[in-house]
Amino acid sequence: MMDGVGTSTVSTIDITRMPRGGPDASCLDRLLQTGRREYLDRASDGDADLEARKRSVIRALDWTGEVFGNHEKFAKIVLDEVAEVADPRILELGAGHGALSRKLLDWHPTARLTVTDVEPASVAAIAAGDIGAHPRATVREMDATSLDADDEEFDLAVFALSFHHLPPDSAARVFAEGTRVATKLVIIDLPRPPAPLHVLQLAAMLPLAPFAPFLHDGVISSLRAYSPSAMRALAAYADPSIEVELRGGLFSPQVVVASRR
Ligand SMILES: C[S@@+](CC[C@H](N)C(=O)[O-])C[C@H]1O[C@@H](n2cnc3c(N)ncnc32)[C@H](O)[C@@H]1O
Repeated sequence: MMDGVGTSTVSTIDITRMPRGGPDASCLDRLLQTGRREYLDRASDGDADLEARKRSVIRALDWTGEVFGNHEKFAKIVLDEVAEVADPRILELGAGHGALSRKLLDWHPTARLTVTDVEPASVAAIAAGDIGAHPRATVREMDATSLDADDEEFDLAVFALSFHHLPPDSAARVFAEGTRVATKLVIIDLPRPPAPLHVLQLAAMLPLAPFAPFLHDGVISSLRAYSPSAMRALAAYADPSIEVELRGGLFSPQVVVASRR
């Protein structure tokens, strides 16, 4: 589905106050969000306990991505989007553990990867491993909301399971920046279920949240996931010339492919 964006409704709303469910969110949906931060969003500032929790969340994301096949699914999505490009230049934002970039390097014989995250500890861990030594990979610290890259430097930028970490004004900047530096910006993120289903899902997860950092962050992530209408509003707010194609959702990750007209 291709969506035209840039309606006057979107440009006049206060984007910082937009509900995660989008401008048209129901009353119940508006209640299902939180300002609480995930462990991953908190600055460690020498707090060894917090740093250990953050590392444990990143390890769990890598493990579940391997076991449930997300790394492979996401790599297929990315490679389909650059199927027409001979030697694609790909930027991964919010790489966390780097498993998606590793898969892309394994599967594509000539793709060049710039593997980035805003978190220095994650960047250092990726750089110290196999990806750091790979001849077609560069590992860098980068903030997805303010990209240190030239216009159209990449064929594709991908931001996986990370977009919900950002409040709406920052999320809109990712649309603007991602489509500035890359021909296509691919956002893969948690789906936001319809509100009644969301309540049931949260009820099942909440009792377990205090016992594992991964589940704690999972509950908050679910409350912060953007709906398809929120995605469209953010893209339109970022720049009316950005076109978005939305796929998936409900029981699978939602995929947004954004590009400039
Ligand atoms: C839930 S993890 C996802 C990791 C990995 N992409 C995956 O699919 O498992 C979210 C990642 O987004 C990163 N992140 C958060 N805000 C960011 C920003 N403004 N720019 C770049 N990365 C960011 C975090 O440091 C973290 O590594």
